[in-house]
This record gives sequence, structure tokens and C-alpha cells, in this order.
Amino acid sequence: ESTLGAAAAQSGRYFGTAIASGKLGDSQYTSIAGREFDMVTAENEMKIDATEPNRGQFNFSQGDRVYNWAVQNGKRVRGHTLAWHNQQPGWMQALSGGSLRQAMIDHINGVMNHYKGKIYAWDVVNEAYADGNSGGRRDSNLQRTGNDWIEVAFRTARAADPAAKLCYNDYNIDNWSWAKTQGVYNMVRDFKARGVPIDCVGLQSHFNSNSPYNSNYRTTIQSFAALGVDVQITELDIQGGSATTYANVVNDCLAVPRCTGISVWGVRDSDSWLGANASALLFDGNGNKKAAYTAVLNAL
Ligand code: XIL
Repeated sequence: ESTLGAAAAQSGRYFGTAIASGKLGDSQYTSIAGREFDMVTAENEMKIDATEPNRGQFNFSQGDRVYNWAVQNGKRVRGHTLAWHNQQPGWMQALSGGSLRQAMIDHINGVMNHYKGKIYAWDVVNEAYADGNSGGRRDSNLQRTGNDWIEVAFRTARAADPAAKLCYNDYNIDNWSWAKTQGVYNMVRDFKARGVPIDCVGLQSHFNSNSPYNSNYRTTIQSFAALGVDVQITELDIQGGSATTYANVVNDCLAVPRCTGISVWGVRDSDSWLGANASALLFDGNGNKKAAYTAVLNAL
């Protein structure tokens, strides 16, 4: 196959990218993204601050630009993200307790209702676990509303759009030996045991020298899948852009039937949230395919 999306489709998977609405006027960007990828995540445009800048006043202008570009170009869309401690609008940052809990519920309903039936999978909750060795929750205004906030978010989401897969998404849950990975694994196991609706786990997979790819990544994917959820690699980038590491990631996903797709977090190195010098993506700043691109294509 000659594109990432077509190559991934040979095994029933997708290959996606983050898309920024502000770059849709860049013809090199849209021509690469249009050609290579078959799943789109809005890099920022469906986040809480973008979609509900004032309480109860929703704004889907930028989210819809990304959504419409994707669909007009034959791509599906992952929704990102509904409940998160980051990129909250000021009004939400100022809330706590019962009013914050209600605002979270109202936000999930408002955004999911707008995109009802149109989203492949939603990152319902993003980054709720703590880094380090605790294996516990991250402190945040949402966490301080009560430990049940995550399951409330998932139950709300299921009712709002029963057609969307509902994912828990996080970083540094790639390495099976890390406490954070085990904490999320135990939450998903508990949710499945108690019938809390969850369909997928998103491994962001931002790999760098502090959080390097480890060969136990395949064990992580297999272990989550064995709980009865899909696994998606949702925000892949690899600092330094090692072709070998990119191929390892693809091979690990392909080894697990329930690993349903891979998305990279941007198109060209110059589009990366890490900066162009990180060389973390599959195309260079001139839009040329890198060695990592060829390694991924050959592995798919
Ligand atoms: C990043 C975007 O790429 C940046 O443009 C923005 O300034 C900050 O957020 N984990 C996530 C993504 O879930 O939403 C983040 O995206 C990267 C880390």
C-alpha cells in the first residue's frame, strides 16, 4: 500500500493524526494529511475551553472546521476531550464541589449532543492519574469533587451518545512496570467488573528520554485488551524520530487484535507541539517523508 491509512486498513485498523484548524489553509499540510491519514483528532478545538468558553454557551466553530474537513475528506473523527484538568475555561477553573460536578455533566451532554452519532470514539476522561509511584489519582478540581467523578463522566457519556466508543486516555501508561499504568489498569478492571460503561483505553504514547518506549509496551496493550476494551494509540510522537522505535510501536499494536488504530500527534515536525527540533513525527518541516515514515508503512 502507498499510504498509512490504506496500509492500516489492510488489517482493519486506522492510521490517524491530530489536525489543527489554524493550519487548514496550508495546502502542503492538507495535502499530506488528506492523502495519508483516515482518522482525525482535533488538536485543541474540541477541548473544554474551546467548546464552552462561557458556562452554558457552547461554541463549535473551530471543532466543526476540523470535523467538516475530516468528513469531507473521507475520514472518521476521534473526539478529544470532555473531562480534563487542563485547558479548562476560567469559569470552570473557579468552580468546585457540586457545581463543578454539574458543570462537567452539562459539558459532556452539550458537546456529545452536538456531535451525536458522528464520533468514532470520545476521550471522555483525559489524564486523571498521577505521575510517579503512587498509582493513584492526580489531584485536580475534578478529583476533589469525589472519587466517583470518572465513572459519572462515563455514564453521562454513554447516555449522551450510545454510538460512540468511550475511552479513558492518558500518558505514561505505556510501560507495564510503571505504577501509573497499573493504577489505570485497576480502574478499567473495576469498571468492567461493575458495569461502568468503558469501551477503550487510549495510550497517548508521547515517547521521550524520560518516558522511553519499552519492549513491555506489547504486554501493556495485551493486558488492557484482555480486560475487554479496545486499545488505541492516540497521540504518538517519538522524540528524535527513531524509525526502529516507530516500527516497534506499530508491530506491538498489530500483535493485538483489539489494538484498533494508531494516531500520530501532528503531521510534519514543524506542526508538533514539541517543536520542530524534537523531530518527533513522520514528515519533516518541508513535508518530506522521513525514515520513520517508511518504517511505519513497511510495518503496517
Ligand atoms: C496539546 C496540543 O498539542 C497543544 O497545541 C496545546 O497547546 C496543549 O495540548 N496530551 C493531550 C493533548 O491529551 O491534548 C495535548 O495536546 C498533548 C498532551
